[in-house]
Amino acid sequence: MGTNYARVFQDIGAVDKYEHRTYAPGSYASSINERQRVYLRELVRSAFPDRPPVQHDFACGTGRAIRNLDGLVREAHGYDTSADMLAKAVELHTPARLHAVAADGPVPRPATAEGPALVTMFRLLLNVDDTVRDRALAFAARVLPDADAGLLVIENHGNARSLRHLRAHRHRGHRWFAELSHDDVAGLLRRHAFEIVARRGFSMLTQGWYERRGLDRLARGVDSAARLVPGADRYAVNVVYVARRVLADTQGL
Ligand SMILES: C[S@@+](CC[C@H](N)C(=O)[O-])C[C@H]1O[C@@H](n2cnc3c(N)ncnc32)[C@H](O)[C@@H]1O
Repeated sequence: MGTNYARVFQDIGAVDKYEHRTYAPGSYASSINERQRVYLRELVRSAFPDRPPVQHDFACGTGRAIRNLDGLVREAHGYDTSADMLAKAVELHTPARLHAVAADGPVPRPATAEGPALVTMFRLLLNVDDTVRDRALAFAARVLPDADAGLLVIENHGNARSLRHLRAHRHRGHRWFAELSHDDVAGLLRRHAFEIVARRGFSMLTQGWYERRGLDRLARGVDSAARLVPGADRYAVNVVYVARRVLADTQGL
C-alpha cells in the first residue's frame, strides 16, 4: 500500500472528497477532529510552557493538524507527497511553510533544526506499509534527536481492538481496510527509540453510528462522555499517542 497510498491523493477529486465529504461539517471525522483540537491545544500549552514549539506536520495533507494549533506554535512546516493536497492547504489558509516530499527514498530533511519541536503525524500510519511507517518515524527521529527536543503526536484511526474490528471480517481482502494495534504502534515507536507518554481515545463508535438517522446525536454524546472514562482509549477506534525519544541529550557532555 506504501506508494500506492501516496498516489491516492494525487488526484483533485480525491482531495475534494477528503475536504468536502470526509471532513464535511458534522461528519464523523469532523467530530473527532473537534475533540482532538481541544486535546492538542491543551497538550501544547502544558508541554511547552516556556517556549512555543516549531511544528513539523508529516503527511500534512490539507493542513488540518496545523490549523488546529494555529497561534500556539512558533512556526509550522507541513510536508506531503501530494501537490494537490498542499494546494488545498494553501487555499484553506494553513499558516505554515509547505514542503513537497517524495513518497519513498531517503528520509526527508526537516526544514529547520530550531527547537523545541512538535512532530505531528495524522491519518498516515494506518494505511501504509512498514517501509513508509519506518521512514515517517525516521523523519520524526531526525527532528527529535533526544528526550528534551520535544514531542511526537501520532494518530491511529483504525485501532485493531476497537468495535471497528467487527467490520474487518466483512472487509477482508479489501485493499483499504487496515487495522493497527496498540502493540503495533508501540513496536514501531520503540524501533525508533520513542516511548509513549500518553494515549487518548477520540471515538469509541464507528462511522456508521454517526450516519444512521436518529443515532448520530446519541453517538456524539457517547463519544464525548467516553473520553472521560479511564482506560477507554484501549478500545477506542481513533487513538492519539504522544511520545518522546528515550535518548538523552549528549551535546552538553
Ligand atoms: C488521509 S491524508 C491525512 C492528511 C492530514 N494529515 C490529516 O490528518 O488530515 C494522508 C496524507 O498522507 C500523504 N502521504 C501518503 N503517502 C505519503 C508518504 N509516503 N510520505 C508523506 N506523505 C504521504 C497523502 O498525500 C495525504 O495527504
